Amino acid sequence: MVKLTPPMGWNSWNTFGDKINEQLIFDTADIMVEKGLLAKGYEYLVIDDCWSLKERDSNERLVADPEKFPHGMKAVADYVHSKGLKFGMYSCAGNLTCAGYPGSFEHEFIDAETFAEWGVDFLKYDYCYHSPIIHGKYLYSRMGLALENCGRDILFSACSWGADETHEWIKRTGASMWRSTGDIFDTWDSIKDLVKQQERLHPYNGVGCFNDMDMLVVGMYGKGNVGLKGCNDTQYKTHFSMWAFMGSPLMIGCDIRSMNQETLDILTNEEMIRINQDPACRQPMKLVGTWTGDDLLLYAKQLAGGDIAIGLFNLREEKAYARVNLDEVGLPFSTGKTLELTEVWTGEKTTVKNANFIKGLEPFDCAVYRAKVVNL
Ligand code: GLA
Repeated sequence: MVKLTPPMGWNSWNTFGDKINEQLIFDTADIMVEKGLLAKGYEYLVIDDCWSLKERDSNERLVADPEKFPHGMKAVADYVHSKGLKFGMYSCAGNLTCAGYPGSFEHEFIDAETFAEWGVDFLKYDYCYHSPIIHGKYLYSRMGLALENCGRDILFSACSWGADETHEWIKRTGASMWRSTGDIFDTWDSIKDLVKQQERLHPYNGVGCFNDMDMLVVGMYGKGNVGLKGCNDTQYKTHFSMWAFMGSPLMIGCDIRSMNQETLDILTNEEMIRINQDPACRQPMKLVGTWTGDDLLLYAKQLAGGDIAIGLFNLREEKAYARVNLDEVGLPFSTGKTLELTEVWTGEKTTVKNANFIKGLEPFDCAVYRAKVVNL
């Protein structure tokens, strides 16, 4: 399956871990529609690890745990589809999944068939307990082929955490997204760490196969499976802005049944989502700026149609000043052009006067602009 812009949806892992069941999925599907998340583009509802029994059946098929999913997975898929959403599931390239359930190793084709029969539209494919002999590129190619041959359009979401130089071979496996880093946790340090690890991998992002910086922790506030210290709303806003700006898939990880208004506002910022879903999917370009140094990240990204997105991310716990020089985005003074900026969170508009501008950023805060090229 070919997906042209970063996939968006919800995934059970960050908050629920193994505490998943069909009622949770039904309620989450309802909320995705009622709260307008589907309308904003969050279309995939994905059940992560821990959904199956520990043994396959006598035909070698995976079996949904009847205590968690008493009506079976087809019924869950049908409900999700009845809401206009797409349904995602999880397996692993190894003998076992990361949580110790059966993996798809040497069962790739039969599992792809099972997922197709159940009505699955998205498969997250993990890398735990994989063969020490067979390289990841072959393991992911197998499942990529199995999915392409299963008779159903299933988005292939690879999750090998960037291991074994994933970026070098993942596009050939048919994956539409690939986890470029290790697991996220609900702390500011984890967010910072993933953004920095991503830096060298931006050149590999692009239309059809997206660098997946992992599920969002926005709105978790330290609760749930990967909830540690938690973050505040400014940090969640900056986290969301960086993931969206950098072209990552946007998979919500909090409990949306009880999310507050701040969380909903962050997750549904239309202009931020528009930058994420920009059809050109060009890679973000790091700006040098001035007075930056560590933990003040400046990025620009050319958008389809000639606009430029500019993102200023203050990862520090103190106020910082970002200075952006327009010659770095291809608009030196000599072009006679400048930028008219609209900030996506406040709507504030400014036109850059002297080929550069300075923006003060509160601790952990960011400013993201959609910029138009105009005459000086
Ligand atoms: C790995 C993945 C996570 C999650 C868990 C499930 O750690 O990276 O995203 O799927 O496995 O066990």
